[in-house]
Amino acid sequence: MNMTLTEAKELVQGIYYSLKFPGQVDVVVAPPFTALAQVSQIAKDTYIDLAAQNLHEEDQGAFTGEVSGRFIKDAGANYVIIGHSERRQYFNETNELIAKKISAALRHELKPIVCVGETLEERETDSHFAVVEDQITGAIKSFNEAELGHLVLAYEPVWAIGTGKVASIEQIDEIHRHARSVLAGVFTKSFAEKVRIQYGGSVKPDNAKEILSLEHVDGALVGGASLKPHDFVTIIKAAQ
Ligand code: PGA
Repeated sequence: MNMTLTEAKELVQGIYYSLKFPGQVDVVVAPPFTALAQVSQIAKDTYIDLAAQNLHEEDQGAFTGEVSGRFIKDAGANYVIIGHSERRQYFNETNELIAKKISAALRHELKPIVCVGETLEERETDSHFAVVEDQITGAIKSFNEAELGHLVLAYEPVWAIGTGKVASIEQIDEIHRHARSVLAGVFTKSFAEKVRIQYGGSVKPDNAKEILSLEHVDGALVGGASLKPHDFVTIIKAAQ
């Protein structure tokens, strides 16, 4: 819940003016629903793609206050973030609901960016591998490989989001390897290799390069540092 319409427009313009060519990097910004349609007018002439931060699992109807994949697509986004830890934590989103939301995204040709990650308590009780495995399996098991051709997975340890505490390189490396093997276990190795696995949780200009250099880290889901064009562009350059 950051950025008014004006601020979101300025952010996208700021990113584009500071970096004209992102090279091989896919750049996606996820403004609030209220800014999507207008920001998409600005972004459409640039390399910047748009995501929504959430969607409802139904397409339309008597769900006052909710926003569906149909409207998100109509507003000009191509991606949607699903199951962010704040949604899991404050809005009781379960693995089952998240699977329904992925289905809704796919119906409207929105690429799902599905977030997984353990809480501090789960890490301290050494259940992080099992939690992440459950979250990934719960999200994807009711689909087939072809349906999930554009799946993006974001591993975000809850204790590292917005806290300035970044997971260590070893912690990121081992859990990303684990995530890749869980994906391969549900479907196939070739499927697992195609899924982009992003790391999120206090990614900043000064740690992005080291994190993004890891073999199984294919990108970053950036919160706080994405709100400043200069910081975000520095992270895009680290990805390049
Ligand atoms: P952060 O946020 O980069 O500020 O930790 C990540 C997120 O919101 O997913």
